[in-house]
Amino acid sequence: MRKNIVAGNWKMNLNLEEAKSLAGELKAKLDQLKTGLVGDNRSIPEVILFPPYVYVTRILDLFPNYQGLSVGAQNCHHEDHGAFTGEVSAHMIRSVGATHVIIGHSERRSQFGEVDLLLAEKVKQALKHGLTPVFCCGEMLPERENGNHFQVVADQLQKGLFWLDKAQLGRVVVAYEPVWAIGTGVTATPAQAQEMHAYIRQLLSDTYGEAIAQQTSLLYGGSCNAKNAAELFSQPDVDGGLIGGASLKADDFFRIIQSF
Ligand code: 13P
Repeated sequence: MRKNIVAGNWKMNLNLEEAKSLAGELKAKLDQLKTGLVGDNRSIPEVILFPPYVYVTRILDLFPNYQGLSVGAQNCHHEDHGAFTGEVSAHMIRSVGATHVIIGHSERRSQFGEVDLLLAEKVKQALKHGLTPVFCCGEMLPERENGNHFQVVADQLQKGLFWLDKAQLGRVVVAYEPVWAIGTGVTATPAQAQEMHAYIRQLLSDTYGEAIAQQTSLLYGGSCNAKNAAELFSQPDVDGGLIGGASLKADDFFRIIQSF
């Protein structure tokens, strides 16, 4: 069975004290949930936090051997090491104990010129060093309006991921994040999310077989919040969310975690 996942992408937000306090609050709530003190602990998803690089070890230190919570980085470089001032490699990220890395976020694609071939190299690096890539795809508004959204997403997946072998692909999480929904307050409708997720799962099945398609977690991202998460997550092919803004408030993020 594929995993339900709720991931928080903090982007370039919070100072250290704020980051620690957010993670601490979240831990207290998760502890209560796990021990049955609050809510229903039968369907707790895997939780992944993506703090800025500089906080990764500090956040990890707050969760030693904590079941069901992982910490990752928001990006990695496409080489192992070398003269790349200001960059951080997958190898380094893994060496501090993080387990996941976001690759291909639309903000990296559009603001930092990250193209499909580069993203494929990053995926290779992540897998080489034992990190789980959370690979993002998603169309821009004009692409949806022109009816090209399926083709755009298929293209991103083909170039970024579909050169992997079966075993490698089996280690990837895919996040569908329509660019028009990111940070805009305009969420994809549950039907739109389901339609694209079903399409992605079909692509996975056509390329890698039904077993891999069924075991790959597909997350939705883009103005997902405590109010709309339950309906999105109730769609058969939506296995959770990659949350931006709403992951910065412990209460909201916790409500999203409880939305299955
Ligand atoms: P928002 O939830 O703020 O729309 O951001 C989504 C996102 O980009 C997560 O990676």
